[in-house]
Amino acid sequence: MCGIVAYIGYREASPIILNGLKRLEYRGYDSAGIALLTTEKDLKIYKKSGKVSELEEVIKGKNLEAKTGMGHTRWATHGEPNDINAHPHLSGSGEFAIIHNGIIENYASLKLALIKRGHEFKSETDTEVLIHLIEEVYKNNNVGFEEAVRMALTQVIGAYAIVILSKKDPDYLIGAKKGSPMVIGIGENEHFIASDASPFVEFTKNVVYLNDGEIAIIDGTKLTIKTIDNTIKTPYIQELEISLESIEKGGYEHFMLKEIFEQSRSILDSFRGRTHINDGTITMAGVDKFEDKLKNVKRIIIVGCGTSWHAGLVGEYLLEDFARIPVEVEYASEFRYRNPVLDENDFVIAISQSGETADTLAALELAKSKGATIFGICNVVGSSIPRFTDAGAYTHAGPEIGVASTKAFTAQVTALILMALSIAKKKGTISSQRLRELLIEMETLPAKVEKTLQSDKLIIEIANEFKDSKNALYLGRGYGFPVALEGALKLKEISYIHAEGYPAAEMKHGPIALIDAEMPVVVIATKHSYYEKVVSNIQEVRARKGRVIAIATEGDKEISNYADHVIYIPSCEESMLPLLATIPLQLLSYHIAVLRECNVDQPRNLAKSVTVE
Ligand code: G6P
Repeated sequence: MCGIVAYIGYREASPIILNGLKRLEYRGYDSAGIALLTTEKDLKIYKKSGKVSELEEVIKGKNLEAKTGMGHTRWATHGEPNDINAHPHLSGSGEFAIIHNGIIENYASLKLALIKRGHEFKSETDTEVLIHLIEEVYKNNNVGFEEAVRMALTQVIGAYAIVILSKKDPDYLIGAKKGSPMVIGIGENEHFIASDASPFVEFTKNVVYLNDGEIAIIDGTKLTIKTIDNTIKTPYIQELEISLESIEKGGYEHFMLKEIFEQSRSILDSFRGRTHINDGTITMAGVDKFEDKLKNVKRIIIVGCGTSWHAGLVGEYLLEDFARIPVEVEYASEFRYRNPVLDENDFVIAISQSGETADTLAALELAKSKGATIFGICNVVGSSIPRFTDAGAYTHAGPEIGVASTKAFTAQVTALILMALSIAKKKGTISSQRLRELLIEMETLPAKVEKTLQSDKLIIEIANEFKDSKNALYLGRGYGFPVALEGALKLKEISYIHAEGYPAAEMKHGPIALIDAEMPVVVIATKHSYYEKVVSNIQEVRARKGRVIAIATEGDKEISNYADHVIYIPSCEESMLPLLATIPLQLLSYHIAVLRECNVDQPRNLAKSVTVE
């Protein structure tokens, strides 16, 4: 986590950096800081615990003139979120400054050795250790700035995306990457470095994604890329696909609400061009590439974290239903530290919105080392997972800024539906007619999403009734079960109400003991194969005075006899249920969080891109 941004060029650096930090706040918002390097070799640092807006208060009225600078927004790992632990950090003499996203794993031993050699530290961070080390290498070896950074990094174990400034070399900006993301924007006579491209999207579309083990040296207007062992690399310049509008709120009060309302478009974008109703086919280049393997594969393993793990559960049901392949869905963090039985026959799918989640990436590295084929379903183009995998499919949800994932989830499910159907067709486990029916149904989904979103007003009323609840239960069966998990996660993430998702029938084995008149129970009770069973579960809740909010299929009048509130969604294929049923749950969490005056887009303690273990 943590967001980094840096600029060197002919413009004023501070507005670019502060604006960039606001766009990167989704990565962490425990503190913010900025370093500015003037041509008079003056290094100015301002930092403050809290959000970028609090840093702006600190710097109001100050002379911020500088054409080179960098900024950081922090998600605390080592040391509490206070002003001292905020980045940038300085070397002992104050000549060098650093910003860092990642964790220096051997910082404790490096720190001890540096203390023995007389270094004094101000903060509790691992980052300050690194900048002291760089300065020591610089002084002891009588080498230049760039060489000192390179040599110091050979002693470091861990993950980092760092940018360093040196008072002595005001024309230089040095960045280095291992394990944490870093992208360089190349303008005319100016360069940008950032965790993602959002801070500079209005200035340039030309970018280079730095690879692990590489260092970027910007000397005035010249960019050189080297490896840590000093081999020069030719930068691979790519063109950015995101636009400024896509990372702004567009009139909505919060990014999360905008992103919920974008889902008819983002689902459409995720299947557009891939489905061909006329000849009943699906084009997914990554899946086609492994056609032979997928036809014969004995099992598929899906790894992910958080909401992406929930999409993985939907993927399990889809792949088993349509392609008749056994699937295991694993928390990436657990999978990587077990000793999983894996070999070259396995096919491992990683699901990740950011494409940067450290545990998911590490799970893939493990799978690759065992010879498995690795496949990514990611949203952020050019991120680490798509670059590491053998093949993949982008979700095309567009930038998701709200920390709680919404449109990325439905886009992931869309990609999984297509993938399951594509494999089913290759294997012959689905008839052409059934496939065409499903593809036709898919085309109707954007309109059905629009219709589902019309329940917003009713959901605000329901949110008002339940906004002070202490606990909530979410129940579902079949495809409704991952939806229940995702609904509960959304509520806890942004409103801080304790919520559990459960398979509806499992309620009898524990959660039923919690049900009383204070307990809202959200039940996915659509007219699908499990309908009667779920209605029985609702009766069991009602018998204990629980208050039921049912997500039901349009036209189902009967359900209102059992539920306190009914939110209707259009009728749909059972396998596509998560695409619709999740939406009212996203809105319910959103409105409850707004009524509780929570910070919806940046919930406490969370971050969008979890680049630490
Ligand atoms: C964080 C985010 C979640 C997300 C999870 C996995 O916890 O707050 O919204 O689901 O990471 O992230 P990924 O980018 O891998 O989907």
